[in-house]
Amino acid sequence: MSRLLRRTGVRAFIAAAGLAAAALPAAAQEGQLNIICSVQAEWCGMLQSVYSRTTGIKVNVVQKGSGEALAQLIAERANPKTDIWFGGTGDPHLQAAEQGLTLEYKSPSLPQLHGWAQQQAAQSKHRTVGIYSGPLGFGYNPELLAKKKLPVPRSWADLLKPEYKGEIQVANPASSGTAYTMVATLVQLMGEDKAFEYMKALHKNISQYTRSGTGPIKAVARGETSVSISFVHDVSISFVHDGPGEKMQGFPVETITPSEGTGAEIGSMSIIKGSRNLENAKRFYEWALTPAAQEMAAAAKQFQLPSNKAAKVDERVPDFKKIRFIDYDYAKYGASAERRRLIAKWEKDVNSLPR
Ligand code: G6P
Repeated sequence: MSRLLRRTGVRAFIAAAGLAAAALPAAAQEGQLNIICSVQAEWCGMLQSVYSRTTGIKVNVVQKGSGEALAQLIAERANPKTDIWFGGTGDPHLQAAEQGLTLEYKSPSLPQLHGWAQQQAAQSKHRTVGIYSGPLGFGYNPELLAKKKLPVPRSWADLLKPEYKGEIQVANPASSGTAYTMVATLVQLMGEDKAFEYMKALHKNISQYTRSGTGPIKAVARGETSVSISFVHDVSISFVHDGPGEKMQGFPVETITPSEGTGAEIGSMSIIKGSRNLENAKRFYEWALTPAAQEMAAAAKQFQLPSNKAAKVDERVPDFKKIRFIDYDYAKYGASAERRRLIAKWEKDVNSLPR
């Protein structure tokens, strides 16, 4: 951790977040807390380190994509080993809520959150809450596009052009919330029949469906593929550690949102029903909603919009006012039956096709 702090230069910030954790009403000062973390490793690691250091609680973190996290919670339902599910797209959190996998808990901090985060809580009957939001779009490698004499894709329609054959990566919607957000966004934008025709045509241009939502933009950064369908705040992960010196290395990645319109995730957090460390889970939950804890995202180079209205918004957070959004129906596309149906249909009608 100390090397990480040196590298990112965020000591003061971490100290503030730590103070915020220490200042929360005293619960069990020790014991443990088991977290499934569905954001990127640096943020998960920072949460673990700061929170355990300032509270004395032993924090165990497992990192999993949103769809995989939900699958784990379903599998361990009879004997839960997890206390908190932190981050990942909101649709599977809503599905977990509907299936009774997460605990009803109404935070006193709710009024401090943006309307979209409160709405996420209300529609889950307070079994989840919004912690951040981020728009879906494309990542691209301008150097690779120039080398291949390909234009920057500006619309969903552009991605179907034959010149992008084998040039695009997106994740698999069963394991990745990012990819499920794409499926739900296209269905809402085009209507279901047209969206599936679109995804079948897009399939021809896809080189790989990755497990994790951020795999494709990392591949763009490494120059392995020209274009990804990604959350645009994930451009930050184009910065990777460069060997033992841990120098930050900039790779050529740019992002754009499609001209026809796009969806956004409501990254969420839930307490697991049957948590064996419930007091610690509630205490962490309260801390994670404070401005200081939410500002940790930017310190870990993840530029989602924080849900606490008082959290500082880093200048690298995408400007939502400049993006054309669809009116994403979170309740409908977070419903168990709908999410399961759309993913099964995608497997059958799209993923099984030859390329
Ligand atoms: C990244 C993004 C998060 C998002 C998550 C979903 O970590 O920065 O905003 O919630 O991916 O991951 P997944 O693997 O489920 O697509």
